[in-house]
This record gives sequence, C-alpha cells and structure tokens, in this order.
Amino acid sequence: MTLNPTEFRKAMGAFATGVTIITVDLDGEVHGMTANAFTSVSLDPMLVLVCVDHSTRTHAHLHAKKRFGINVLCEDQKAISAYYARPERSHEHAEVEAGARFERTRHGTPMLPGALAYLECRLQSAQEAGDHTIFIAEVEDVVLREGDPLLFFRGKYRTVGEEVGE
Ligand SMILES: Cc1cc2nc3c(=O)[nH]c(=O)nc-3n(C[C@H](O)[C@H](O)[C@H](O)COP(=O)(O)O)c2cc1C
Repeated sequence: MTLNPTEFRKAMGAFATGVTIITVDLDGEVHGMTANAFTSVSLDPMLVLVCVDHSTRTHAHLHAKKRFGINVLCEDQKAISAYYARPERSHEHAEVEAGARFERTRHGTPMLPGALAYLECRLQSAQEAGDHTIFIAEVEDVVLREGDPLLFFRGKYRTVGEEVGE
C-alpha cells in the first residue's frame, strides 16, 4: 500500500476537533492564527501542545516571544477562524471583517472575549517534527465561558449535535 497525502488528510479530517486562535503580542500589535492541532499534554504540570507549520509567521513569533494565548472558539466565531487562517490578512481589518476584538491579559497577551476558553501559555519546549514544530507550553491561567464550541470535521465547520444517550 502506498499512502498519499490526500488520503492522510482525509483520515485526519475524520478526527473532529475544536478550533482555536493562537494569539501573540507583537509589541502592541495582535498576531493571531487559526489552529486545530492543539491538545492537552499533562496535568501536573499543566501542559498543552500546538503543532505549527514552519512556513507560518506564527512559527517565528512563538519562538521569539515564548508567550501566547489559546482561544477556544464558540459556535458563532466561524468568521474569526476563517479570517485568521487567511495568509494575506492584516490585523487592522479583523474587527470589521470578522468581528474579532481583543482584550489584553495581565501578561499583555491578546485574548478574544467571546471565546469558550482562554489559556495563557508560556513556552516550555519546542520539538521539530517534519514540516511542523510541536510547541509545548505551561498553562499559567485560564478564562472560561458557557456556550457551545465551533467544530471542524472533514474540512467543514460544524456545531455540536445531540448528546449520545446510554
Ligand atoms: C480549521 C483550521 C485549522 C488549522 N490548524 C492549523 C494548525 O494546527 N497548525 C498550523 O500550522 N496551521 C493551521 N492552519 C492553517 C493556518 O491557520 C494558516 O496557515 C495561517 O494563514 C497561518 O498564519 P501566519 O502565517 O500568520 O502564522 C489551520 C487552518 C484552518 C482553517
């Protein structure tokens, strides 16, 4: 069997995920990037990871700043996800085009007020893995809100359906 990248993508697309925006402060400017390669790693200490493509601007920013936020999007934030996945975007248009308005945490990290969860992250280590880097970070703070998540499944945005009963 020879596996091609399309089949690999399809297999990974069958794994439904939430959607996050990774945020970095660039000397007062907000840089955000849509990411779903995000997972919990450890409870003690509290660690998470995010896998970031070498070709993204975010890759360089995470190495340089070593502090970032992870904003877990809610179901009405699809436009924000689409906006921060576009390579040619600029932050000035984020509010008008996608309704993205940021607050700052006490560490100065940009935070999306409407998100379901916010995690304040401090970079712990970076592991090269093919064309991506696995950034592992310690979680220093969280902010939680009620609501339903934005999901990503087979290349499309979704909302949660019925609870699966007994
Ligand atoms: C739903 C979704 C999930 C994504 N997840 C990731 C991811 O986990 N890692 C990654 O490197 N890129 C991911 N991307 C692609 C980046 O958002 C995209 O390449 C972005 O333009 C990079 O921005 P930057 O160059 O400003 O950092 C995802 C895109 C979408 C639409």
